[in-house]
Amino acid sequence: MVSLGDKLGLYRAMAGGGPLSSHEIARRSGCSERYVREWLNSQVAGGYVAYHPASVTYELTPEQAAVLADDTSPVFLPHAWQVVASMWADEPKTLNAFKTGEGVSWGEHSDRLFCGVAAFYRNCYSASLVQEWLPTLSGVTAKLEKGAKVADIGCGHGHSTVLMAKAYPESRFWGFDGHKGSIEIARRIAQEAGVAERVSFEVANADEYARHNYDLICFFDCLHDMGRPVDAMRYARTAMAEDGTVMLVEPYARDRVEDNINPVGRLYYAASTTLCCAHAISENGTHVLGAQAGPGRLESVLRSAGFGTVRQAAQTPFNLIIEARL
Ligand SMILES: C[S@@+](CC[C@H](N)C(=O)[O-])C[C@H]1O[C@@H](n2cnc3c(N)ncnc32)[C@H](O)[C@@H]1O
Repeated sequence: MVSLGDKLGLYRAMAGGGPLSSHEIARRSGCSERYVREWLNSQVAGGYVAYHPASVTYELTPEQAAVLADDTSPVFLPHAWQVVASMWADEPKTLNAFKTGEGVSWGEHSDRLFCGVAAFYRNCYSASLVQEWLPTLSGVTAKLEKGAKVADIGCGHGHSTVLMAKAYPESRFWGFDGHKGSIEIARRIAQEAGVAERVSFEVANADEYARHNYDLICFFDCLHDMGRPVDAMRYARTAMAEDGTVMLVEPYARDRVEDNINPVGRLYYAASTTLCCAHAISENGTHVLGAQAGPGRLESVLRSAGFGTVRQAAQTPFNLIIEARL
């Protein structure tokens, strides 16, 4: 229902409109009223849309609109349903994985996964990465302004790379990911954004990309997907400048299961089961962190890889941001 509401423009037709009849919402969205009315009632029953019985009208409150209608909002969630759709499509693979203990690699999933994850995180990054996260890292924005070398490991569709490249025209960026299909899309996104001259995307795993003495190495929501996160961080040490920085962005979590009992934990543990753990296992993982690793286990990965300074730099409802230096 959420996916339909997003794709058919039903939420957008309601946003900012106050109480509206099903006929008016159907008219604004160009959809058939009888379908729209039933969809609206499903949304009311789910608590996603408010209902006014006296006037028989439906209303999307500003809070609901931020989550369901504004696709630039950092809490816009409809893209997350693409991820859920991919989980259904790939259910036979997951059933088999539970029985055999074998992995399912990122690239084996339905295409809806890659688009869903990229679009979901893009909004989180565009709200915070340049404005809040980079400035909390010691000395990093000054280097980026002057001209720094930046690597984005496990970059997926590269929205994070492109956002940084647009903000820092003097700097040079490299995005690496083991999934060829994602790298092809990342190249196209960089072209469209007009930054392709300063941004390269290459198919490469976290322990084999070109070492350019980077000033900043970023891991956006991917370290926990890797089967050998300590090795990935050890490799980053060898690929960065002596006074370089690692920015580790991971799904928001606390250290203990009992502290992750909330809607974000519900979403992330599910994705972690079918996607993140499954991929790490497919890499013959020695260290399958899962998406709800929490700051304690992430710090221990960084310390085992030899980073001396590790601190939590920022957090949002969806992400933890950790800074590591030698
Ligand atoms: C959840 S996605 C995140 C993608 C992107 N960083 C973002 O935030 O939208 C995880 C990404 O990590 C990549 N990945 C997983 N294991 C990897 C490895 N060992 N080396 C490089 N990339 C890897 C996957 O191909 C996938 O694109």
